[in-house]
Amino acid sequence: MKYFHVVKILHAWKKSIFPDYLFRNLAVEWRLIMMDFKGKVAFVTGGGSGAGFGIAQIFSEAGCKVVIADVRQDHLDRVMEHFRRSNADVHPILLDVTDREAYIAAADEVERVYGTPPQILIQSAGVNAFGPAEASTYEDFDWIMGVNLNGVINGMVTFVPRMIKAGLGGHIVTVASLGGLGPGSTTAPYSCSKAAVINLMETYYESLEPYGIGVTCFCPGNMNTNIHEASLTRPENLKSTGYYESPEVMEAYRLHNVLGMDIREVGRQVMKGVEQGVVIYIPYEDREEIIRSEMQRMIDYCTPEGMTRLKARKHQAPAMPNEEMESLRVAAEVGFAKAKGDIDWIIRERKYTN
Ligand code: NAI
Repeated sequence: MKYFHVVKILHAWKKSIFPDYLFRNLAVEWRLIMMDFKGKVAFVTGGGSGAGFGIAQIFSEAGCKVVIADVRQDHLDRVMEHFRRSNADVHPILLDVTDREAYIAAADEVERVYGTPPQILIQSAGVNAFGPAEASTYEDFDWIMGVNLNGVINGMVTFVPRMIKAGLGGHIVTVASLGGLGPGSTTAPYSCSKAAVINLMETYYESLEPYGIGVTCFCPGNMNTNIHEASLTRPENLKSTGYYESPEVMEAYRLHNVLGMDIREVGRQVMKGVEQGVVIYIPYEDREEIIRSEMQRMIDYCTPEGMTRLKARKHQAPAMPNEEMESLRVAAEVGFAKAKGDIDWIIRERKYTN
């Protein structure tokens, strides 16, 4: 146990002799107990690939019993092969997070297998597709919002009451994105789903603190995952898209993703977020600067002077490593983030420079 944990416990104990502070400090103590991951049950959505798999590995290695929930059986099979090699206590569940009945059945299964609801809920399942906002179809919105936002809502509504009733405290992590902190002109459904998730997590943070349940919204940039394959699980009734898609686009997206953060590092960063108990965890050193610049954008949107400042700044390079910028430029050449050919209201000369 680290020095500052001891200090915090003593501080909490001292204050707890005053009734006003008692409940809040019990919550603090629950959080400190949470720091010991050994024996805790962790439920990881999207745990069959990418960030979720990295998170599952790190939490499993820290002693958690991990439940991996994923919509792809092949992903579950592949990661279970990994965990069986190390004899880790990991239980797979085939789950589409948009299916509420299946979610309830999955929660029942966790209690049957481990005797309690999870103390750690990590929601990583997510999908994305790129294209101009004005090309988006209803189906683009329904699919992406369905998984990224409704899937998270389903996780909260299913598990939060069970976690509170179990009285064991806990922590909830939802993987949002840097893309949720600002607008994305080629990721409208995605950015709006992630922005909503960030707000939702902040709301739950305030609500769940008295129960000793912490909340962290993880906001990464590019990660080395399989998200370029997301369209493979897109439901048949939501297939109609306004975005240009082709095997070359998928490959270009993959080549961009491989430049991103390693998934085990993602897992370590998520664990750090839980340990620190921060509500928004950005896994980069310049996290405060990132938030400040997003806040400045909001301030600038409020006044005509601000709008002038904002327009003057517009052509500054975004904070992205050069090689990632370059990979996006190359991807654009094969049609990445562009509209499908039959969309006739987009004035391409105004939108694209290549
Ligand atoms: P990934 O595709 O490697 O992993 C996502 C997993 O979620 C897959 O195994 C997939 O089968 C599963 N999944 C998809 N839809 C599901 C559903 N309806 N129900 C249950 N499982 C479902 O992608 P990645 O990158 O690991 O994605 C994890 C999270 O990270 C997502 O929320 C994504 O939006 C977020 N993110 C990803 C970034 C990146 O650069 N890869 C950047 C920022 C955020």
